[in-house]
Parts: sequence; structure tokens; C-alpha cells
Amino acid sequence: MKRICIIGISGKLGVFMAQHCLAKGYDVTGLCRPQSASKLSTFGDSIRLVTGDTSDPATIARAVHRCDGVLTVLVPWGTDGMATRTARAVLDHADPGARLVFSMGWHAARDARDHYALPDRIRTGLMVLASRLAGMADIADHRRAAALVYASERDWTVVRAADLEDGESEGPPVWSPHVGDPRLKSKRLRRTDFAMFMVGALTDPSLVHQAPAIVGRGRAPVAEHAEPASA
Ligand SMILES: NC(=O)c1ccc[n+]([C@@H]2O[C@H](COP(=O)([O-])OP(=O)(O)OC[C@H]3O[C@@H](n4cnc5c(N)ncnc54)[C@H](OP(=O)(O)O)[C@@H]3O)[C@@H](O)[C@H]2O)c1
Repeated sequence: MKRICIIGISGKLGVFMAQHCLAKGYDVTGLCRPQSASKLSTFGDSIRLVTGDTSDPATIARAVHRCDGVLTVLVPWGTDGMATRTARAVLDHADPGARLVFSMGWHAARDARDHYALPDRIRTGLMVLASRLAGMADIADHRRAAALVYASERDWTVVRAADLEDGESEGPPVWSPHVGDPRLKSKRLRRTDFAMFMVGALTDPSLVHQAPAIVGRGRAPVAEHAEPASA
């Protein structure tokens, strides 16, 4: 793994992923909106920046060209299918054999083995309704984007998080192949650890074609949180 592209590099998650990639010695290319390029000024010339519409297929094709890995921050802003368009463009244009890792929320069920408690279903329902009424975001688009990736034969991983927060790293997240696993008691996750998991997934063959639901390790004893040996 040498050259990595980060689609949506200027967001909080994107910046953390860039830091983790640089720490591993990867060459980093990032795609962000033109108005957000200034957020990345502290990186100087340690990254290559492509600016443009982060869901435009031609722009994505240019950004991911000759990259061994692509980290995509999938976001459902607006109501015109941004997340699905982004996912499709990455799947279509990334180099053959590239590792593709996408960020997502717990709401993107992989299959019937994902279980959602009633309070979570109500909370998600309210979020879907409010964001759709406000025209701000479309969670259905997010789910469609995830479904597109799940159906793909590319080497993908969809990393699913619930409640994000800022703060120091708590160490490697706890993960399960499915939402509802009792090991995922807390829903909290530090963004830096989300980013670390995404970057680690690039070189972890056991995560290919997996949609890990992840939470922060917090202060719970490590023994409570042994990762599953396999899906
Ligand atoms: N926030 C949560 O609580 C939460 C929970 C679970 C999962 N997640 C997942 O975590 C990932 C990142 O979440 P985050 O909250 O930390 O966000 P973030 O990293 O700050 O990223 C947001 C991304 O959306 C872009 N963006 C914002 N407004 C936009 C607009 N109007 N049009 C186009 N692009 C726009 C940002 O680009 P600019 O820099 O150009 O603004 C940035 O690339 C997402 O995949 C999300 O599904 C988030």
C-alpha cells in the first residue's frame, strides 16, 4: 500500500485519516470542495490536493487514478443522491485491485443479522424525517450508497459508526460484523479512532467484504471486547 486517495479529505474524519496515512508513510491525494481547501493548509505540500465536486465522477476518476487504496467519506448532503453518486464513481473508477474503504452510519444495515433496538429505530426515524423535511440530507441515499457497495465485487469495506465525538484516541475500536452485538454496548466513538480503523482496514484482508460496526474502546477492560475471529 503506497498511494492513498481520500475523498472528502477536508472534513474532520478526512483530516484524521490524512494524518494517520502520512504517519504510515503513504503518499496522500485528497479530494475536497474548492472552498474547503484552506482547511488543509497545515498539511502544506505533504499531500496532493484535487479540488472539485466530491461526488462528480470525472473529478473522482482524476483523484483516484493510480491509487492503491481509496478512503471515502460517504455523506448524504442534499437531496440529489450525493452519497450514491460518490460510491458509484469510486467503485467505477478506482484502479483494479485497489482497496476501497467507505465511512457510513449504523443505519446502513448489511442484512437481517443487524438488529436495531426500538429507541434506535425511533431516533433514526426522527432523524430521517427531520433531515428530509429540511432538505438538508437524505438518509435513504446513504442507505442506497451502502447497498451499492455491498453488492459490488470490488475489494470493499464499509465501516459503520454511531455517535461520533472529538477527543484523544482511546485505542483500537471494538467491532462486530453486525449492529446489535452486545459487545457494542456504547455507541460512542472518537473520530480519530474511526479514522485509524478506516486506515487500518486498507491493509487488513480479513475486513474485505465486511461492514464492521465499530465503537470506542472507552475505559472498559480490553478482555470484554475481543473482536470476532471471523464474520
Ligand atoms: N456525525 C455523526 O455523528 C456521524 C455518526 C455516524 C457516522 N458518521 C459518518 O462519519 C462520516 C463523517 O462524519 P463527520 O460528522 O465527522 O463529518 P466530517 O468528517 O466533518 O465530514 C463531512 C464531509 O461532508 C462534506 N460536506 C459538508 N457539507 C457539505 C455540503 N453541503 N456539500 C458537500 N459536501 C459537504 C465535508 O466537506 P467540506 O470540508 O467541504 O465541508 C466533509 O468532507 C460520514 O460518513 C458519516 O456518515 C457520522
